Amino acid sequence: MVTETLAGLRTRLVVEGGRRLAGSLTVPGAKNAALPIMAATILCEGEVVLHRVPRITDVDVMAYILESLGARVREQPGGTLVINSTSVTSHTAPYALVSKLNASFDITGALLGRFGIAEVPRPGGCVLGPRAIDLHLDGFGRLGASVDLEHGSVIVTGRRLRGTTIPLAKPSVGATKNLMLAAVRAEATTRIENAAREPEVVDLADFLVAMGARIQGQGSPSIVIEGVRRLHGGEYTIIPDRLVAGTYLLAGAITGGDVTVRGLDPTMLASLQEVLRATGAEVAAEGVSVRVQAPRRWTATDVTTAPYPGFPTDLQPLIVAYLSLAQGTSTVEETIFDARFVYVSELARMGADITVAGRTATIRGVPALKDAVVEAPDIRAGGALVLAALAAQGTSEIGGLEHIDRGYEFLEERLAELGAAIVRISAAEPVTLRPHVGETQDLAAIVSAFGARPAAGSPGTQPGG
Ligand code: EPZ
Repeated sequence: MVTETLAGLRTRLVVEGGRRLAGSLTVPGAKNAALPIMAATILCEGEVVLHRVPRITDVDVMAYILESLGARVREQPGGTLVINSTSVTSHTAPYALVSKLNASFDITGALLGRFGIAEVPRPGGCVLGPRAIDLHLDGFGRLGASVDLEHGSVIVTGRRLRGTTIPLAKPSVGATKNLMLAAVRAEATTRIENAAREPEVVDLADFLVAMGARIQGQGSPSIVIEGVRRLHGGEYTIIPDRLVAGTYLLAGAITGGDVTVRGLDPTMLASLQEVLRATGAEVAAEGVSVRVQAPRRWTATDVTTAPYPGFPTDLQPLIVAYLSLAQGTSTVEETIFDARFVYVSELARMGADITVAGRTATIRGVPALKDAVVEAPDIRAGGALVLAALAAQGTSEIGGLEHIDRGYEFLEERLAELGAAIVRISAAEPVTLRPHVGETQDLAAIVSAFGARPAAGSPGTQPGG
């Protein structure tokens, strides 16, 4: 066995590919609903009890941000968070935490609505491309706030916000959420035109309504918000995560398996169902479950990402992984983010045949993928690499788990329940013994060389982060 030293290699997923996944699982709460709803508690007086909060590190970071502002956050077993933001006194969000999470810019609208001023570090770019906030800032301006940039922070000031019509140049999810948060306690009526229709935007609106807001039209391109003086506390259950559900359905499909996700409205995944059917998969949506049975070999198809109800950009890397094993050539066009194909080079290391020109990937299906050591550059690309590893011949290692853990709770435990051979390993630094890339690797040997992670927390334990 060839040995090598890999300083910095700490925690990785090791996946022995080639096992067919089968079974069912209940979908956890949606990250992209939980984060803005946590931010929205800043607008509420009294205790807010949130159920079905996913146990992911992004939620931990948002909880720390709220605590740093003065909120009290308590976790209860089973994915419940109790947040009391009545005690929030600060309108200044700390850079060290905000910089870890693009979604944390959502607190701007909530702080502005509560205090008439918000000071939040400007989000940087990320691996998906620049994360523009011009539509957020333009909307705050239309509500009567002034916007300044000082020392890298956006300072939005507006002691008396007044409702107005805000036409969005594009249906930005973040801008729609932020402006809804700012408008909910403004004077008079705000109308957001060309609003994002994503289920997570609807969930935020539904949460605000449950806490006393007056909002109509969520889920349509025109959201009308009639300002109220105050919001109260209460209890609310977050919607299930359609992106996580899509990940497990595709994990089943890419292994030629049969996976059912339960607990979510299948219309949230209508565009994925359509694409899977076009590849020859059998899809059954009934009540609150979706079942996908893969064909032996699926056929190529073309996909274009689009705002909801179109095909989600967040499932783009995962469908590319699946199509890399299709019969024939597929194209996938990315219309939301500028740079969402960076992971393709990692898939290529597993044998995928993909070329990217601008915003379009051309995927020539190969009969098999092969094991490799790969690195996840972001959450959903991490999911795509896990999918590829599940289908690949041999044993793959996936690093960059700090990204994967931002969005997937108990990923390896859930996949193992469906029949995957997957384990998380932790290695002391530096690593001195590991099989050389390309050598036949054996899951048990790798685990004994690295030491498996201590028994994964049972559902109900918060992962660190
Ligand atoms: C949300 O990001 C999600 N994040 C993303 O998921 C998701 O990919 C995206 O919506 C699209 O569905 C959260 O909900 C936390 P946008 P967001 O504002 O709000 C441009 C994940 O980690 N734009 O709809 O940032 C922008 O640059 C993430 O799960 C402007 O030009 O998305 C982008 O190209 C990855 N000006 C496009 O619009 C603006 O003011 C979509 O952005 C705002 C956005």
